[in-house]
Amino acid sequence: SIEVLLANKAGFCYGVKRAIDMALTAAREKKGNIYTLGPLIHNPQVVQDLAKQGVKEIKNLDEAAGGSVIIRSHGVGPEIFQQAKEKGLEIIDATCPFVARAQRAAHEMAEQGMPVYILGDPGHPEVQGILGWTLGKGIVVENADELSRVDHPKVGVVAQTTQPLANYRKLVEALEKQGVEVDARNTICHATGERQRAALELAQKVDVMVVLGGKNSANTKKLARICQETGTPTYHVESAQELREEWFHGHKILGLTAGASTPDAIIEEVKRRMKELDQMTNGEEGMNEAMEV
Ligand code: F3S
Repeated sequence: SIEVLLANKAGFCYGVKRAIDMALTAAREKKGNIYTLGPLIHNPQVVQDLAKQGVKEIKNLDEAAGGSVIIRSHGVGPEIFQQAKEKGLEIIDATCPFVARAQRAAHEMAEQGMPVYILGDPGHPEVQGILGWTLGKGIVVENADELSRVDHPKVGVVAQTTQPLANYRKLVEALEKQGVEVDARNTICHATGERQRAALELAQKVDVMVVLGGKNSANTKKLARICQETGTPTYHVESAQELREEWFHGHKILGLTAGASTPDAIIEEVKRRMKELDQMTNGEEGMNEAMEV
């Protein structure tokens, strides 16, 4: 019989789960409008479900007409809290505690007067949020190669929570090589690394691997690449409908993992479908054998 094994870390991380729970609780308990500033997660289905429960996405606080606004797990800069207050909006702060830790570290170092290097994607809202806490002293870099000559005896470093550790180490080393004192705060969250490690371990012991998540989700693509590199046939799908019976033909142990924006319900659905398809395959084989006899 076949088995579908799920990576022991897959799908939503702690911070995203928490933000969704907070949004659902708000939808149940709060009177008046409930907004999220930007999509709560990068999954259109979940955003639609939330909208049905009355949680409305806005791009800008100017779109809010009273009520509550949820700050998503990526966090925001202090100017947004200020604006929300001025508009009389109640703030539901779902900033992930690990992101908040990076914001606090950046703020504290900036207060001490040092330039603060933020290692991360300059276009990412989390990085924008952290930057907002640096009193104008933040410098965003994507890697050590972007560093220019530092003209300050002491600098601070924080990282976007999803950064690879090697990237962070390289940046700290490059700064130290310049002879400056470095106050380096490793603010990387383990969720991404753990999910990747779990995917790798699983891919090494199964016959076929399915990676579930957005086709343009960076973290899902990374998971797919990690699985592929083990040599195990790997398929990246966004939904159960994309699964093909022939992928599983003749295989006994199937592996499944999912990117960070994939709800448990969709993971379960794909798992069920993988079992069904495989039973169909096995079932047909059984019939063929019976006919041959
Ligand atoms: Fe998730 Fe928070 Fe880490 S949102 S990836 S648990 S920083």
